[in-house]
Amino acid sequence: MNPSASRTPPLPPHPAPATVGMSLDEVDTPALLLDLDAFERNLARLPASLRGVSVRVRPHAKSHKCPDIALRQIEHGAIGVCCQKVSEAEAMVRGGVKDVLVSNQVVGATKIARLAALAKEAKMGVCVDDLGNIADLSQAAQRAGAKLDVYVEVNVGANRCGADPGAPVVALARAIATGPGLTFAGLHAYHGAAQHKRTPAERKQGIDDAVAKVKQTLALLEQAGLPARIVTGAGTGTYPLEASSNVYHEIQPGSYIFMDADYGRNLGADGQPVHEFEHSLFLLATVMSHTNPQRAAVDVGLKAHSVDSGLPLVHGLPGVTYVRAADEHGVLALTAPATVTLGQKIRLIPGHCDPTVNLYDWMVCYRGHHVEALWPITGRGRFY
Ligand SMILES: Cc1ncc(COP(=O)(O)O)c(C=O)c1O
Repeated sequence: MNPSASRTPPLPPHPAPATVGMSLDEVDTPALLLDLDAFERNLARLPASLRGVSVRVRPHAKSHKCPDIALRQIEHGAIGVCCQKVSEAEAMVRGGVKDVLVSNQVVGATKIARLAALAKEAKMGVCVDDLGNIADLSQAAQRAGAKLDVYVEVNVGANRCGADPGAPVVALARAIATGPGLTFAGLHAYHGAAQHKRTPAERKQGIDDAVAKVKQTLALLEQAGLPARIVTGAGTGTYPLEASSNVYHEIQPGSYIFMDADYGRNLGADGQPVHEFEHSLFLLATVMSHTNPQRAAVDVGLKAHSVDSGLPLVHGLPGVTYVRAADEHGVLALTAPATVTLGQKIRLIPGHCDPTVNLYDWMVCYRGHHVEALWPITGRGRFY
C-alpha cells in the first residue's frame, strides 16, 4: 500500500437537514432557509423595476450558486447568468444554463482549458485585462475548437481588476479582435465599490464617474474601428442607474433575490432603508444554551455564516440581538422582557449572502411553516 495514500473511507453524500413537508420546527440546524413567497416577489420585482428601460438582465449566480434559482431567473427574462469562477460556471451549465459570462479573469492553463471545453456546451464569455492572458485564451479556444466571447474589464472605480479606461482598453480589444477563437464582445465595467455606499447620492456619484470612463473608452474604440457590442456591469445597489444610463446594455445584480442584512442598510431616496426587495434568505438556528436571563447561545457560529459584512440580525424577536460569533456558537443578548427557550428554533438574516450560501449544500425552501422543496447548491465550494 502507498504509505501516503488516504485511508479515509468515503462518506455518503451529505444529507439534507430537512425533508419536504416537514414543519420548520423539525428542520435540523444550522440550515439555510429560503422563504419562497419573498423570493418569488423579489424575482418578479427586478424585471418590473426595469419596465420601459431597454437593458438585458444577466443576474450574478455567485450569490446563489444554485441552478434551480438560475433557471427561475431565466424564466423571468434573464438572458443567462454571470459566474465568478470556471467551476461555478460548470455547475450552472450542468444544471441547464446555456449562456454564462465569467465576469472575472481566468488565469492558468488548467482553468483556461476547462473554460474552453465548456464553450463547446454553452455560450461562454470571459473578462480580460492582460495581453498574455488573451493569447492563452486564444490558443485554448483553438485547441478545443470553441469560440469565446471576450470582454475587456475596465477599472471604473473599484480598483480591483481591470485595465485603466481609454488607450489601454483599445490595445486589449485589438488583440482580442485579431485572436483566433475569440470574439471582442465589449466592456465589463462593474463598479463594486459603489454598491454598498449608503446614500443614493453617493451611489449616483460612483456610477456617474463610471459612465464617464466608459463613454470616453467607447469613443476611442469607435475611432479605432473596434466597436463594443455590449457594456455589462452593475449590482443590486446601483443597477437602476446603469440601466438608465444609455451606456450599459446589460446588468448583473445578484443579491436582490435574497437581500442580506448589509444590503438592508443602504438608504433609499426617502432616507429610509431600501425596500424594493425583501429578506428571503435566513439561517435557522437552535437555542442550545440559556443559563442566564440576559444571554443565550445558538448553534450558528463562524463556520455556519459569514460575518465579513457584519453580524446577522435576529428575525421577528424584538429584544434579542446576535452579539458575538465563535467557531460553533452565536451569542444572543436578551433585553427584558424578551425570552427564548432551550431548543427554540430562531431565524437569522445573514450579514452577507454570497459567502454564507457557499457554506451550505442545500437550500431548504419553505412556504408558511412547511418545507416545500430542497434545492442543491451545486456551485457550493466551487471557487476554483
Ligand atoms: C462582477 C460582479 N457583478 C455583479 C455582482 C453582483 O452584485 P450584488 O450581489 O451586489 O448584486 C458582483 C458582486 O460582487 C460582481 O463581482
